[in-house]
Amino acid sequence: MASSSVSAVLSLATLLILAAPLVRSQPAAAPPAPAGPLNLTAILVKGGNFNSFIRLLQQTRVDEQLNSQLNNSFNGLTIFAPTDNAFGGLKAGTLNSLSQQQQVALALYHVLPRYYSLTIFQTASNPLPTQASGKTGVYTLNVTTTTNNQANVSTGVVETPINTPLYSDFPLAVYPVEKVLLPYEIFGPQPPAAAPAPSTKKPNSPPSSSAGQGADSPSEGSTGSGASLKGREAGWSFIAGVGLLGIAAGNLL
Ligand SMILES: *[C@@H]1O[C@H](CO)[C@@H](O)[C@H](O)[C@H]1NC(C)=O
Ligand SMILES: *[C@@H]1O[C@H](CO)[C@@H](O)[C@H](O)[C@H]1NC(C)=O
Ligand SMILES: *[C@@H]1O[C@H](CO)[C@@H](O)[C@H](O)[C@H]1NC(C)=O
Ligand SMILES: *[C@@H]1O[C@H](CO)[C@@H](O)[C@H](O)[C@H]1NC(C)=O
Repeated sequence: MASSSVSAVLSLATLLILAAPLVRSQPAAAPPAPAGPLNLTAILVKGGNFNSFIRLLQQTRVDEQLNSQLNNSFNGLTIFAPTDNAFGGLKAGTLNSLSQQQQVALALYHVLPRYYSLTIFQTASNPLPTQASGKTGVYTLNVTTTTNNQANVSTGVVETPINTPLYSDFPLAVYPVEKVLLPYEIFGPQPPAAAPAPSTKKPNSPPSSSAGQGADSPSEGSTGSGASLKGREAGWSFIAGVGLLGIAAGNLL
């Protein structure tokens, strides 16, 4: 009995050896898992044309938050990575006109707190929450797809196609985009900023009520969490806490 199973194993092995050339065109065994946790910056560096986005992520410390989220996330993350051309296409001074907190919000606006493959995008219902938020709550964007697996992302200010992923393997998807995703809450039509007194308001200023939101003043709080921070002035300390909040959000969402 023992010897017959041995010979069965041996002939099976022979068969496999003989069959090997026939199956060689199939994918080999899964490549070894990358050493250590996922590193978004390294993925973007390898992509070659995301230097401005990398700088934004580093200056706002959002890169650290995202890498820590990737190491802990149940839902994964989706990143829209604007190319250097996309940043080059911004009106001069656009980034510098933002407060530090708005820059954090801009960076987090390019992050969705779950993993979306192109297929999952097709069944997702708009609007999709991003990791950015302000006084008006969580900032959202829309993804529209066509049946041939093409998709656009739209913020209400800009719309641009979602390109072939730079990386897509749970828990992380990174899609290059040819425009910086400008959040409506920051770049949409706004009443005059804080400086002018209310009495100077011109009648031709569009009322913001139809958009369902008010202007976000430069002192708004922007965090990776958002929903639970309504009405709270997060101030500067949020930068230290943003990683933890992001982790909490990643676990809760
Ligand atoms: C992630 O990759 C970047 C670029 O290669 C590198 O500078 C950084 O040290 C890496 N971070 C970690 C935590 O490995
Ligand atoms: C990743 O998470 C594990 C446990 O969840 C932790 O032990 C490890 O230090 C984390 N690594 C990084 C680079 O954050
Ligand atoms: C994507 O947006 C472009 C304009 O930027 C438009 O021509 C195209 O029809 C849109 N595609 C989808 C799937 O919405
Ligand atoms: C996003 O989608 C929602 C739901 O379809 C729609 O109400 C909203 O107007 C869309 N916003 C943008 C900017 O496309």
